[in-house]
Amino acid sequence: MKTKFPKDFWWGAATSGPQSEGRFNKQHANVFDYWYEVEPEAFYNQVGPDTASNFYNSFKEDIRLMKEIGLNSVRTSIQWTRLIDNLEEGTLNEDGVRFYNEVIDEFLANGIRPVINLHHFDLPVELYHKYGGWESKHVVELFVKFAKQCFTLYGDRITDWFTFNEPMVIVDGQYLYQFHYPKVVDGKKAVQVAYNIQLASAKAIQAFRKINKNKESRIGTILNLTPSYPASAEKEDLAAAEFANLWLNQMFLDASINGAFPEKLISYLTRDGVIWEATAEELAIIQANTIDVLGVNFYHPHRVSRPSVSSDSLAVDWMPNKYYDEYDMPGRRMNVDKGWEIYPQALYDIAINIRDNYGNIDWFVSENGMGVSREERYLNKEGMIEDDYRIQFIQEHLYWLAKGIEEGSNCFGYHLWTPIDCWSWGNAYRNRYGFISTNIHTQVKTIKKSGYWIKQVALENEVTF
Ligand code: BG6
Repeated sequence: MKTKFPKDFWWGAATSGPQSEGRFNKQHANVFDYWYEVEPEAFYNQVGPDTASNFYNSFKEDIRLMKEIGLNSVRTSIQWTRLIDNLEEGTLNEDGVRFYNEVIDEFLANGIRPVINLHHFDLPVELYHKYGGWESKHVVELFVKFAKQCFTLYGDRITDWFTFNEPMVIVDGQYLYQFHYPKVVDGKKAVQVAYNIQLASAKAIQAFRKINKNKESRIGTILNLTPSYPASAEKEDLAAAEFANLWLNQMFLDASINGAFPEKLISYLTRDGVIWEATAEELAIIQANTIDVLGVNFYHPHRVSRPSVSSDSLAVDWMPNKYYDEYDMPGRRMNVDKGWEIYPQALYDIAINIRDNYGNIDWFVSENGMGVSREERYLNKEGMIEDDYRIQFIQEHLYWLAKGIEEGSNCFGYHLWTPIDCWSWGNAYRNRYGFISTNIHTQVKTIKKSGYWIKQVALENEVTF
């Protein structure tokens, strides 16, 4: 069976500045650069972001490869730590300005739409040490200064802007579950950080609407959605799934698209004494500056059951998972390497949720992907990685996405994480995701079988299931 996708569908892939460029010529260190300096053993094989996949030096060749595999759009991010010299004043770093100018021009010259995101977990570490990072509303103002510089410098060529990648991962990783520096465990701070990031996004959108002169341009945010399915139809499991969905998905979806946080979530957080500090003026800014377009990162769902310990007997400070447990559903299909469940049908559920509950806003799959280790196992005689498992993974997700689109959801594109294998936070280079492989010793890049496959798909705007 063949299915056509809508006209001008985005076939592409996503990366980020901190994971692809390397640290060359950067003015400041971000939280990951710093964490690697002080605790290299926290990173797989002690490989840090110093070289990453060398995009700073090899972007011309890399973009040529992206063109060769037929991508019509690619997302990356501008690093705050590279573009800005003086973080307080928001003054520009000349080399940073030049670099992003050249990258954008190179994408355009190759017929690839550059999609720009402004924050991909890469807070300048000074702002954490001085102000507590996203805990601080001063940092919100500094981010807006940085965002304004980006809009002014590149708004003549960039039509698709995004403020944040996966705010929930910043909250989870930096403030709850310790997988991002500064590895704080503090539920109250986590709630404030979620709010402050939403405020920063709304304020950046407000600034964009003042600065932007191009009627074609639009701005949005990128949310990692993890539909949370209850373990049973019993009311305790349903309540657990309801809270997980409120916290993990609806919090940022409602605020970004409808302009207000969900009332139900606010009552939980108020009752528990962890509600954010907000002013009426800030809430009005969030209300007035909703997004034009949504990016959805989808990797895996959550299976959720009632919490095993009663919330009142929890000895620790507030944690969102006092309301739910992760549940290992028997028989679920797992990606053994990454430890995530594979459940493509969730993409259909997301499409229908956006159609029915979020005004059928324009959206695209901004990341989806399969992390696989030791891919050299799949090298063929010609030196190409035969990643049939990745082709199958993408196909299955596109099948359910196509069904959502047929039923009226306004999805305009699909981006894989990632075009070229890049550095993956704590995983470093263990799990590979790209259409193109990177040899981290020689920096030689080679197209995988999935790269040739996506080329055909993009050319025909059609997928065979
Ligand atoms: C997404 C992020 O959550 O997952 C990427 O936006 C990240 O930055 C990707 O690399 C894959 O996860 P990981 O932990 O394997 O790098």
